[in-house]
Amino acid sequence: MSAEEFRRQGHAVIDWIADYFARIESFPVLSRVRPGEIRSQLPQSAPRAGEAFEQILGDIERVILPGITHWQSPNFYAYFPANASGPAILGDLLSSGLGVQGMLWSTSPACTELETQVLDWLVPMLGLPEHFLSSSTGGGVIQDSASSAALCALLAGRERATQFHSNRHGCDGKLVAYCSTQTHSSVEKAAKVAGIGALNLRQIEVDANFAMRPEALERQIAVDRKAGMIPCFVCATVGTTSSNAIDPVREIARICREQDLWLHVDAAMCGTAALCPEFRFLHDGVESADSYCFNPHKWMFTNFDCDCFYVADRKHLIRTLSVLPEYLRNQATLSGAVIDYRDWQIPLGRRFRSLKLWFVIRHYGIEGLQHHLREHVRLAQEFAGWVRNDARFELAAPAPLNLVCFRLRHGDGANQKLMEALNSSGDLYLTHTKLDGKLTLRMCIGQTNTEARHVQEAWRRVLEETARLTA
Ligand SMILES: Cc1ncc(COP(=O)(O)O)c(C=O)c1O
Repeated sequence: MSAEEFRRQGHAVIDWIADYFARIESFPVLSRVRPGEIRSQLPQSAPRAGEAFEQILGDIERVILPGITHWQSPNFYAYFPANASGPAILGDLLSSGLGVQGMLWSTSPACTELETQVLDWLVPMLGLPEHFLSSSTGGGVIQDSASSAALCALLAGRERATQFHSNRHGCDGKLVAYCSTQTHSSVEKAAKVAGIGALNLRQIEVDANFAMRPEALERQIAVDRKAGMIPCFVCATVGTTSSNAIDPVREIARICREQDLWLHVDAAMCGTAALCPEFRFLHDGVESADSYCFNPHKWMFTNFDCDCFYVADRKHLIRTLSVLPEYLRNQATLSGAVIDYRDWQIPLGRRFRSLKLWFVIRHYGIEGLQHHLREHVRLAQEFAGWVRNDARFELAAPAPLNLVCFRLRHGDGANQKLMEALNSSGDLYLTHTKLDGKLTLRMCIGQTNTEARHVQEAWRRVLEETARLTA
């Protein structure tokens, strides 16, 4: 592709995306295709000769678009948001254009230094402890996902507990890790990958608000020690996936300090809310954690993938993950004066992800980000109020921020039908969980362009379908 053609087609692609955003509300939010439908429209094998770019882009519209679930629709309330924004997309495009591998400082110094600086910016922005700063003992790094952050944290915790023995000799089945019954499944996956074993991940019971019970954690650690096991790691969650429960981090941190366990705090979606001082209660106790992560790719207007992972003391993480083959040796690394982020993550290669985050923070400014987050929380609280005031419904869990867990009082069947009616209409998309064994609908408000009118319409549709169901 010549530079001139690239320029021309690049304009066409940006135009296509801008038009897509302009008409996004006209599509059913949840894709309606059946399994295999998209694939059946694709040729059996790759083309022998190259094709015209116009033809390829035309297939995006014709073949791909029907199979898209519109995560960027303001009527998307499912799972957690993956909210994107213009500055993030353009930052990511520049990252692709530069096409650098930032595995070492020397393979592209700007890739490392911008990342360090942006992650340092976020420490005071979120009210995080100063030892997470790169100028202190710790530091931050961008991971692809909160799942990778959990795995890195668990590996570092494993190594600290075994004095780096398991790195050399492997695990002996004695290490145990802890989370709650509500912790995201990525921690179970991390336990499998890290050689801890899923059965050695203790899922601690939760209280009536779905937050981990610290006294149950303490009891389980004592039982495990008595049985000759080696506790090494605890994951606390600030904003669980099912219900946005907030584990008591301060109390869990006290136990971890007394027991010398690595404490990882997973604030995947909710951490972003701490940009607003009134939501900093979320980070109570995080100053005693060994590691922490949140996902700008969920609620901070930064398209996937972008997870910010911080450690209080980087030397454990680096010693756990560092391997230095001859072909990566270089003067800058040997001087000790630079950060090589390859030692802070699982893969070697890494994209220039800080560009999109930098663009987002500079475009919105702290005040702009706060404005949007406050609006999302306000809209969710309003929705929760409507649920509370309608005797046919109940709130299934506290709604501290932007997630409302609610259900009809008519049982699982009715809630399932309500959800299916709403989602198949294409007007909005929400998903479910089970709380106290009951099917519960989750209304998570966090898409970049969701406004009051969208949320009002969503509630109107909930009422309409409920009336139809209960008629
Ligand atoms: C609390 C929590 N942690 C971790 C994850 C996993 O996120 P990622 O896709 O970044 O691995 C999620 C995803 O929803 C989550 O809700």
